[in-house]
Amino acid sequence: ASTLGDAAAERGRYFGTAVAANRLGESDYTATLNREFNSVTAENEMKWDALEPSRGSFSYGNADRIVNHARAQGMDVRGHTLVWHSQLPGWVSGLGANDLRSAMNHHITQVMQHWRGQIHSWDVVNEAFQDGSSGARRPSPFQDRLGNGFIEEAFRTARAADPNAKLCYNDYNTDAINAKSNAVYAMVRDFKQRGVPIDCVGFQSHFNSGNPVPGDFRQNLQRFADLGVDVQITELDIEGSGTTQANHYRTVVEACLAVSRCTGITVWGVTDKYSWRSGGTPLLFDGNYNKKPAYDAVLTALGGT
Ligand code: G3I
Repeated sequence: ASTLGDAAAERGRYFGTAVAANRLGESDYTATLNREFNSVTAENEMKWDALEPSRGSFSYGNADRIVNHARAQGMDVRGHTLVWHSQLPGWVSGLGANDLRSAMNHHITQVMQHWRGQIHSWDVVNEAFQDGSSGARRPSPFQDRLGNGFIEEAFRTARAADPNAKLCYNDYNTDAINAKSNAVYAMVRDFKQRGVPIDCVGFQSHFNSGNPVPGDFRQNLQRFADLGVDVQITELDIEGSGTTQANHYRTVVEACLAVSRCTGITVWGVTDKYSWRSGGTPLLFDGNYNKKPAYDAVLTALGGT
């Protein structure tokens, strides 16, 4: 195999990227996307502020452009994200508990039914835990007004809305075994024990010199997989350049391949020039869509040439 998607497919995995709808008209962007990747995540277009900017009024246009492009290319789609404290429209934050509960469930149901059967995995809840040593929940309108049960409620609502979608919990700084990942682990174990529907855990994997690829990354993925969920690397990017960056990317791919329930990898953008890390070079293609050493390392690690 000579592309990331084909090489990953031969290993029984997908290899995806985040996509921005307003870049699809750029021919080099779309050519690289279509050639290399077999799964996409909307970088911003499926977030609450984009899909339901005012209560009960849904705007699917930009996200539909991504989904339609992916389907026309035979790519899978990851849904990102239904319940998150960020990119949340102001009207949600102003609601009282009962209203917020029904708004959350309505949002999940409407959005998932819009793409029912077309999205392989949904990030149902994103980033609900705090950084640091507490293992506590992050303050948010959902946490503050609905309490710990909001995550369980969101997953139950999601299962009913699209029974064929894999339902994921997604977070960052959970890539190592640490207080935050321990807290997520305890939640997933509890959900599995009590029959709360959850199918996968997403590890964002935004790495840089201050947050390097952890030495226990594979071990951490494995302990979640051992709970009976799939694991996915959902927003991979690694600051740096050259051989050092390439080696870090290789480590991540090898970790996923070593865990049979690691079903796929998504990098958080096609080209360095549109990375959310402004001025950074964390991705596999440079600003001119040239393959970087990191690209070669990933392709080789996947078994491609
Ligand atoms: O669309 C508006 C545009 O109309 C406006 O003129 C412009 C001015 O600032 O802003 C544009 O919105 C920006 C949006 O990206 C689209 O480009 C927002 O300001 C900007 O905040 C937003 O950043 C996104 C960020 O999430 C927001 O939290 C990044 O693109 C996106 O890559 C990033 O992705 C997150 C994941 O969803 C969750 N995990 C972390 C990851 C990286 O932060």
